Amino acid sequence: VALAAGGAHAQDYPAQPITVVVPFAAGGPTDTVARLVAQVMSEDLGQQVLVQNVGGAGGTLGAGQVAAAANDGYTLLLHHIGMSTAPSLYADLPYDAIEDFEPIGLITEVPMTIVARADFEPETLEDLIAYIQENGENITYANAGIGAASQLCGLLIMDALGVQMTEVPYQGTGPAMTDLLGGQIDMMCDQTTNTTTQIQAGEIKAYAVTSPERLDNLPDVPTTAEGGLNLEVGIWHGLYAPAGTDPAIIERLTASLQTALANETVATRFAELGTTPVTEGQATPEALADTLSSQIDLWAEVIAAAGVSAQ
Ligand code: MLT
Repeated sequence: VALAAGGAHAQDYPAQPITVVVPFAAGGPTDTVARLVAQVMSEDLGQQVLVQNVGGAGGTLGAGQVAAAANDGYTLLLHHIGMSTAPSLYADLPYDAIEDFEPIGLITEVPMTIVARADFEPETLEDLIAYIQENGENITYANAGIGAASQLCGLLIMDALGVQMTEVPYQGTGPAMTDLLGGQIDMMCDQTTNTTTQIQAGEIKAYAVTSPERLDNLPDVPTTAEGGLNLEVGIWHGLYAPAGTDPAIIERLTASLQTALANETVATRFAELGTTPVTEGQATPEALADTLSSQIDLWAEVIAAAGVSAQ
């Protein structure tokens, strides 16, 4: 009877607006991805897909909120690589990244950029490396809290150079970018989704991209490897529902996500921001489940090797 009721419910789905929780501040890279995708999903599903920003604790606050939400398909989570790093960075995470969610699909892959305020002294990546080694804790490094992509990249920079900088946490790199533009903070490492426009406009300095190849949109920015920095990281995004959501609802949401990623306007905007939507075969629950579990294992090793213990 319960199954029949669930099936009937799934047939009507969606019968009301859907909320997608972004676990970072508005105006940042995760928010940008979510709003682009949500717009097409709204059209496709015939119901509003609303983005709700629940920033704090490096993305774990918003993720925890969705883990505890009703599994009726009306509250979803759009999160990034932080789903896989937080289990190694927090001793008491209020959710289980695998057990408490149903994966819907992977969304995008995004490289990161190491950037600084426009008048920061170092000119090249080589200069920056020497400057960090010399000035360490006198440098302020913005991140979006423990579990954020910007925090992971900072951790990798500091581990590669064997130096601590002073980390300044924000609710997301949207507000951090405002302070970088205003010169209140020295540097950060953030997704191209949030930095390409400002780099192209010359409003901030860019030292490196964390991808193996230079990016078409930022041809003058060298790769970390070119500058002798042993650091390569790509950020991925996924869409999740709370555990136990009806499989028919998940199927409908996966199809809608695939429609959004195939949309030309979305693809064009992603390309402008150096962001690549995944292929249709990757925008699936199976691909997201595989990525999540292998990334949890990978980052557990890297984070342990960097000598960082869970707090
Ligand atoms: C954001 O959307 O603010 C970012 O993804 C934060 C981060 O993870 O660095």
